[in-house]
Amino acid sequence: MTAVADRSLGPELARTATIGSDTDVLVIGLTTSDDGPVIAPDDAFDDVLGAVTRAALLEQLRAVGAKGKAEELTRIPAPVELGVTSVLAVGLGAAEKVDAEQIRKSAGAAGRALAGVGTAVTTLSGLDLGAAAEGFYLGAYTFTPFKSDKSAPKPEEGPLRRVEFLVPEPEFGEEALFRAQATAEAVATARDFVNTPPSHLYPAEFASRAQQLAEAAGLEVEVLDEKALADKGFGGILGVGKGSSRPPRLIRISHRGGDKKVALIGKGITFDTGGISIKPAANMENMTSDMAGAAAVIATVLLAARLSLPVSVTATVPMAENMPSDTAQRPGDVLTQYGGTTVEVINTDAEGRLVLADAMVRAGEDEPDYLIDVATLTGAQLVALGTRTPGIMGTEEFRDRVARLSQEVGENGWAMPLPAELRADLNSKVADLANVTPHRNGGMLAAGLYLKEFVPEGVQWAHLDVAGPAYNTGGPFGYIGKGGTGVPVRTLLAVLDDIAAE
Ligand code: BES
Ligand code: ZN
Ligand code: MN
Repeated sequence: MTAVADRSLGPELARTATIGSDTDVLVIGLTTSDDGPVIAPDDAFDDVLGAVTRAALLEQLRAVGAKGKAEELTRIPAPVELGVTSVLAVGLGAAEKVDAEQIRKSAGAAGRALAGVGTAVTTLSGLDLGAAAEGFYLGAYTFTPFKSDKSAPKPEEGPLRRVEFLVPEPEFGEEALFRAQATAEAVATARDFVNTPPSHLYPAEFASRAQQLAEAAGLEVEVLDEKALADKGFGGILGVGKGSSRPPRLIRISHRGGDKKVALIGKGITFDTGGISIKPAANMENMTSDMAGAAAVIATVLLAARLSLPVSVTATVPMAENMPSDTAQRPGDVLTQYGGTTVEVINTDAEGRLVLADAMVRAGEDEPDYLIDVATLTGAQLVALGTRTPGIMGTEEFRDRVARLSQEVGENGWAMPLPAELRADLNSKVADLANVTPHRNGGMLAAGLYLKEFVPEGVQWAHLDVAGPAYNTGGPFGYIGKGGTGVPVRTLLAVLDDIAAE
């Protein structure tokens, strides 16, 4: 169990005032204009590049057709006086539309394109050092613990190893780079957990890896095993986990930083077969991502500690494997959620809400001011909003605040309603609640309404359904590769920052 060693971090990040002698590639930004591409930022680093070199570079880039369109990549040999082998120009699009997210995406595209390069130096730091650093790091991220050749996916090359950010003076950007690196590493930690296959990441192992990371960071940790869960009455977590030979866990990790208390809850289904209500074979392998909510909240509480955020954060994370077997729960079974609510399990594939409800009631005992749950909860999220837009439900004011902050960091969450009329469809003939409605209408919202039943009185609540956004089954784009994306770690950080600033 070399758990925590199965991590793939990104390149080293550093600040620099000059182009070092062992630098391979210079990465510059280009914006579009009516007169062709323009180097951005337009005046910074002339002492390093030289005005003449700058003009020559632009000339050559135009000659090979560079336009500066968003994420366009153009690689040319470098003028000798620069002392690097080549120049990579990355498009930023129209100058007036360049924001932090565009810089992150363009830097990400550059980071992906530079596989095989040892050290890159970039002027993108002249636009936004933090965004550029996050983009490079996340774009260059690869996950290789299960490849015999660790430099895969391009074995002949290997990922980008180091990025240096040009700064105008030595003190510039130290704080921004520290924060960007911590943030990007947290996103990578979440990605690593998601990308670790279900053969290797099962509830006990997931809890143990999270515990190791948390203890190494000096955080308080509590792990409940299946016996403790049974003693305390965590019927939702036990019901979902009982079909698997690999028993469930509940882990709690706390960062104490201030008076305001935030409870984070993350769905940690290490694999979701659907249970007895089994899923079709096609694409079932993607259910390795069904613990992405757990991964995100664990990474976030670690990040809150690393950044010493002045807010108290407790992650409460239920972990279970949803399997069909002779010990599995059956459709029609009734279980008792932690706290006493009885539930008729009509569909064993609606397991996320069962483990989350237990965790939400437990988190409520800490009397938090805010409760945020994150889950790959419904296929209906993908139907409603597509693969890249998290659905955000909850108490209205906080829901809208979380959605706004998610937009601001480029994770693009969108506020969704919890229509009151759907609630009656969760009534059961034998228990307090049924775990599904008898129809498919508003599936994401019905799941949200189920969770709403377990929100502690008076607590501001947001529920993030990231079924699509947490796991990229398509090709790479911007700073996102295939597999785990780390969404919504940066949204959660923005929310914690915003609460800390109240
Ligand atoms: N983990 C799935 C949701 C999911 C689907 C995540 C696709 C990522 C991609 C969840 O446990 C599930 O199976 N939900 C059911 C709920 C239904 C039975 C009400 C679904 O969405 O089909
Ligand atoms: Zn699931
Ligand atoms: Mn399911």
